[in-house]
Amino acid sequence: MSIRFDGKVAIVTGAGNGLGRSHALELAARGAKVVINDLGGARDGVGASSAAADGVVAEIQAAGGEAFAHGANVAIFSEVEDMVAQAMAKWGRVDILINNAGILRDKSFSKMSIDDFKLVMDVHVMGSVNCTKAVWEIMKQQGYGRIVMTTSSSGLYGNFGQANYGAAKMAVVGLMNTLAIEGAKYNIHVNSLAPTAATRMTEDIMPAEILGMLVPEAVTAGALTLCHDNAPSRFILCAGGGGYAKSSIFETDGIYLSPEERSPEAVAGQWDDICNTSNQAELESGFKQSEKFLLKAQAFVQGAK
Ligand code: NAI
Repeated sequence: MSIRFDGKVAIVTGAGNGLGRSHALELAARGAKVVINDLGGARDGVGASSAAADGVVAEIQAAGGEAFAHGANVAIFSEVEDMVAQAMAKWGRVDILINNAGILRDKSFSKMSIDDFKLVMDVHVMGSVNCTKAVWEIMKQQGYGRIVMTTSSSGLYGNFGQANYGAAKMAVVGLMNTLAIEGAKYNIHVNSLAPTAATRMTEDIMPAEILGMLVPEAVTAGALTLCHDNAPSRFILCAGGGGYAKSSIFETDGIYLSPEERSPEAVAGQWDDICNTSNQAELESGFKQSEKFLLKAQAFVQGAK
């Protein structure tokens, strides 16, 4: 099966550098028309420049593809709306959105300012919300949409010095969970990508020989499987250095304590049973958790009758 994007319009945020650039080049090489969004600031979000995005547009055009640059700051909704309006005016549809733009403000939580926390949340979380909101009605009306959130192992599992970034990266998984449910009947698929790649974001935190193995193109091969016609929905794909894996949240079946039994001591006393993974499951919505517990309570009441 060859994966093509002919006739599709894609927006890739933060596409001037690193992973976004790689995703955009490959989408264009496979037939998509691509909006190259990039604010063009430094790794910590300071500054702005159109040079990087213009360079990617030039590369795509030189290879015979179609693209235009837009310098929207994804954290500012009106700028994102303008970008989407330009894509609609030029190409009449938006099929794919890869929420990729990101910054870092790493510090231990003790030393992290509230401003550094808020800025990282703004770019990653509100950036993804703004871009998704701006294309959502368009995708609903088209009956077609493919949206990728860029999460991180830092959000899924934690990393020292990344409280702001980790919180933001897990938030976009929460956004995916609900939007995948709400988008299903409109053929809008929403997935998450957890990358590992050598970019300016990671250039000083890993040794050179390791960075040489972590080429962005390896992540892009995974990213494109999350936004083509037959893409899954609500999938967390981890990709780096040629490795690909699925990450999931599971919940154990758990236990039931009757009203008379309920106490912190009883809960602590059954910890091993609470943690028993033999019947664990991925729940398809938050409501399924309530349903599970209510069924246990109902079974107890019926057994007592
Ligand atoms: P990068 O720094 O090379 O690229 C990020 C791009 O986003 C830059 O071109 C930057 O100008 C742009 N950007 C930043 N703030 C923006 C804003 N407000 N509006 C528009 N554009 C903005 O970094 P990299 O590594 O390519 O990161 C891409 C995504 O992948 C990010 O979301 C990052 O958090 C995520 N990620 C990367 C990992 C890695 O190993 N490189 C690991 C896990 C996640």
